[in-house]
This record gives sequence, C-alpha cells and structure tokens, in this order.
Amino acid sequence: MRAILMKAFGEADVLQLAEVPVPEPGPGEVRVQLHYAGVNPAEAYIRTGTYAFFKPDLPYVPGFDGAGVVDTVGVNVQGLQKGDRVFVASMLAKNKTGTYAEYVVCDADAVHRLPDRTSFAQGAAIGIPGLTAYRALFQRAQLKPGETVLIHGASGGVGTVAVQLARAHGAYVIGTAGNDSELAFLRDQGVHEAFNHHDPQHFQKIVDFTGGAGVDVIIEMLANVNLERDAEILAMFGRIVVVGNRGSIPFTPRLLMIKESAVLGMALWNATPADNREALAALSASLESGVLRPVVGREYPLAEAKQGQIDILEKSARGKMLLKISEN
Ligand SMILES: NC(=O)c1ccc[n+]([C@@H]2O[C@H](COP(=O)([O-])OP(=O)(O)OC[C@H]3O[C@@H](n4cnc5c(N)ncnc54)[C@H](OP(=O)(O)O)[C@@H]3O)[C@@H](O)[C@H]2O)c1
Repeated sequence: MRAILMKAFGEADVLQLAEVPVPEPGPGEVRVQLHYAGVNPAEAYIRTGTYAFFKPDLPYVPGFDGAGVVDTVGVNVQGLQKGDRVFVASMLAKNKTGTYAEYVVCDADAVHRLPDRTSFAQGAAIGIPGLTAYRALFQRAQLKPGETVLIHGASGGVGTVAVQLARAHGAYVIGTAGNDSELAFLRDQGVHEAFNHHDPQHFQKIVDFTGGAGVDVIIEMLANVNLERDAEILAMFGRIVVVGNRGSIPFTPRLLMIKESAVLGMALWNATPADNREALAALSASLESGVLRPVVGREYPLAEAKQGQIDILEKSARGKMLLKISEN
C-alpha cells in the first residue's frame, strides 16, 4: 500500500511516500481502508524527534486520525463489520499503525461508526481535535451551562469543535480568529461574538462585551502569547486551560491570587481509558444529533503530507487540515 514513511527524525522532507506492506489486524483489532487522514500539529512535533510525550521507533508511518471503511475485523471484535463507515481516533490506542496510509490497523475501541450525515472528510476531522476540545471544556475546565467561555483561537481544528460543543452545552461563547473573513466564519459556527486575536485591544473589547464581568473559562491555543492578558480578563474563580503553547512568557501570579482563578494544563496523552471512552461517547452522540458538524479545511493529496505539516504550523487555519488518500 502507499504510505508516508519516516526513516529519520527531522525537517518535513523526512516525510516520504513509499510502498509498505498492508498491516494485518490481530485479536481485538480492526483494519480500516482510509479515504482521509487528519493532520494535527502534534504530528509535526513528533516528526522532529523532540516531542515531550512520544518518540516512535523508526521507520514510522505518522497519523492518528482518519476515516474510511472497515476492511477486516480481528477475532474478539464486537459491533463492527466489514463495510462499516467509520472514523479512527487512535492516538490513545495501545496498538495502532499510522493513518497517513491507505490502510490502518488499530484497537477496535479506537474505531467508531460514522452517522450517514457525516462525510469521510468530516470523520477524519474528529479524533485529536474532538478529544482535545471535549477534555479542555468538560474534563479540565468543568464548563457549566450559563458560563461564559472564550475559545482563544477558535478557527482551527480544535477551536471549531470547541465552539460547537460549548454552544450546545448552554455556554455563552466568545471566539477569536485572525481576520475579518474568519470572524464571519466563527459567527456561522455559533459563537455569540467574535474578536480578532491580532488586535491588541481585543482583551479589553471582550471585557466590555461581558459588561465588565470577564469570562469564566478560557480555552487557550497560544498561551505563550496570551496567558498574562487572559488572567487579566478572567471573571472571579475563572479557569484558563492551556491547550496550545509554543514558548515562554513572563507572568504575574498575583492575577490568579486576587480572583482565586486557576491555570490548568491539558495534554491529551494524560487522558485515562475511562476519560477517552467518555469523550468518544459524547463526540459520537454529538455527531448523531447534529451538534457536532466537523469543519473540513485545507485538503492535500497523501503524497503532499510534507507540505501539510509545514502549513499546519505556519498558515492560518479554518477547520481541520486533511490528507486525501482515495476517491470515495
Ligand atoms: N494539549 C493537547 O493535548 C493538544 C491537543 C491538540 C492540539 N493542541 C495544540 O492546540 C493548538 C491548536 O491546535 P489545532 O489543531 O486547532 O491547530 P490549528 O488548526 O492550526 O489552529 C490553530 C489556531 O490557533 C489560532 N491562533 C493563531 N494565533 C493566535 C493568537 N495570537 N491567539 C490565539 N489563537 C491564535 C489560529 O488562528 P488563525 O490562524 O486564524 O490566526 C487557529 O485558530 C496547537 O498549538 C496544538 O499543538 C494541543
């Protein structure tokens, strides 16, 4: 089969298209023929060999997210059969091959049915973005209906899912993006109001928008830029969840003291199997009900995975970046 194979860690040109054997599923495992794979920033960090959470053995086929059709079911697998339309969210699976490939094998509990309304492209946008948005909002921030949440960086893979889930949960949702067209896009996604995170005044505008109260929860995609100002615009007893960070920032702890507010770290790798089951059940139910409508962003052919991993760190986002693997 065709797959993107890494034989070394390094810059994006270590991502090479290659012919590799089709993986065979063992007991409790499923093989999926993929139509799309999701591209996540984490895969670009892993490629460097310096990612804090995961350094794979080489050679390595990257990718945790995808969607396609069940091809073969191993023994002891219940509830899935050949031909089922499914999405794959394999980051936390014990056994998995990569999704930047025509076929992936992984534990059956990483494979979930797609409702008819959800396309294969949308299915490949669910895994890491969906699990991250759910964990940040509900398992870390404990967001309650009626609270105000700022999704700081709402236009990308994680942010768009967070907006949809938070809105359906009954929160008052504020989102940020990088230009006017993205702000209009966020309003279509369901934010109550949108602000430009490149405007230095946007923090004060958000406080004004809340009538001076500030926001209860901030889901932060770029903490090294925003953390200090985030702490300033929190409401009393507010919570910031650090989802994304690419550097360091001077910080004034007194901001937390005076409001008894909290900064909470979040890394999907720390989710327990029970956390993961809860999140995937909630995401599947949200797909079925139509609450979750994954937004498909830029698409690249499988052979262009290298450019995808460059662009996901450098270009502005609208929804989830995908690799197209086959026609469907
Ligand atoms: N902790 C975890 O377990 C975990 C899991 C998944 C992802 N992440 C991290 O979370 C971040 C988002 O992931 P993603 O998949 O959604 O990436 P993405 O699709 O590339 O989206 C990145 C988002 O960050 C926004 N952004 C850019 N500049 C910003 C600023 N100054 N302030 C606030 N937001 C800004 C972008 O907006 P514009 O481009 O429109 O300006 C875009 O909405 C990444 O850093 C990723 O590594 C962490």
